[in-house]
Amino acid sequence: MSRLDSHIRRVTAQRDILNSIASDVTGMEGPIIELGLGNGRTYDHLRGLFAERRIVAFDRALNAFRGSIPDAEDLVIGEIRDTAARFAGVEAALVHSDIATGYSEIDDVTATWLPDITVPLLRIGGFAVSGIPLDHERLRRLPVPPGVATDRYFLYRRL
Ligand SMILES: C[S@@+](CC[C@H](N)C(=O)[O-])C[C@H]1O[C@@H](n2cnc3c(N)ncnc32)[C@H](O)[C@@H]1O
Repeated sequence: MSRLDSHIRRVTAQRDILNSIASDVTGMEGPIIELGLGNGRTYDHLRGLFAERRIVAFDRALNAFRGSIPDAEDLVIGEIRDTAARFAGVEAALVHSDIATGYSEIDDVTATWLPDITVPLLRIGGFAVSGIPLDHERLRRLPVPPGVATDRYFLYRRL
C-alpha cells in the first residue's frame, strides 16, 4: 500500500468513526478535546458536527489553516503530555487524538502515556477516538463502523 493509500485510509477511518458517534456525543454534555490540531481539518469537521460545543485543541505548535484556528482560550500550545494534564476533570464528551507519526519507535512511546492522559479528560460514557491504541482499564474498546479497516483507527468508551 502506498503512503497515499495509507493516508486516505487513516483520514477516512477518522471521519467515519467521528460521524458514527456524532449523535451520541451530541446527546452528552461536555467539551470536545482535539489532541493534535495540525492543519485543523479534523477540527473543522468537529466544528461542523458539534456546532455551539466548546472544542479545545492542543498542539506543540500552531500550523493550522487560518480559518481553522481556535479562539485563544480554546487553543493550548505545548507538549500534550504536559498540557493535557491541566485539563483533567474537564468531563469531555469526546477526546480525539490524531498524533501518530507512523514511526513505530515514537508511536510506541506515545502509546505508553496517551491512555493515562485521555481517561482523566473524559466523562463517564464519553468517547475516545484515536490513531494510537489506548490500552487502559477504564476504556472499553468498541467496534468501528463497517468499512473501516480493523486496527487502523480506534474507538473506546470511558467506563
Ligand atoms: C497528523 S497531525 C494532525 C492532523 C489533524 N487531524 C488535521 O486535521 O490537520 C498531528 C499533529 O499533532 C501534533 N503532535 C504530535 N504529537 C504531539 C505531542 N506529543 N504534543 C503536542 N503536539 C503533538 C503535531 O505537531 C501535529 O500537528
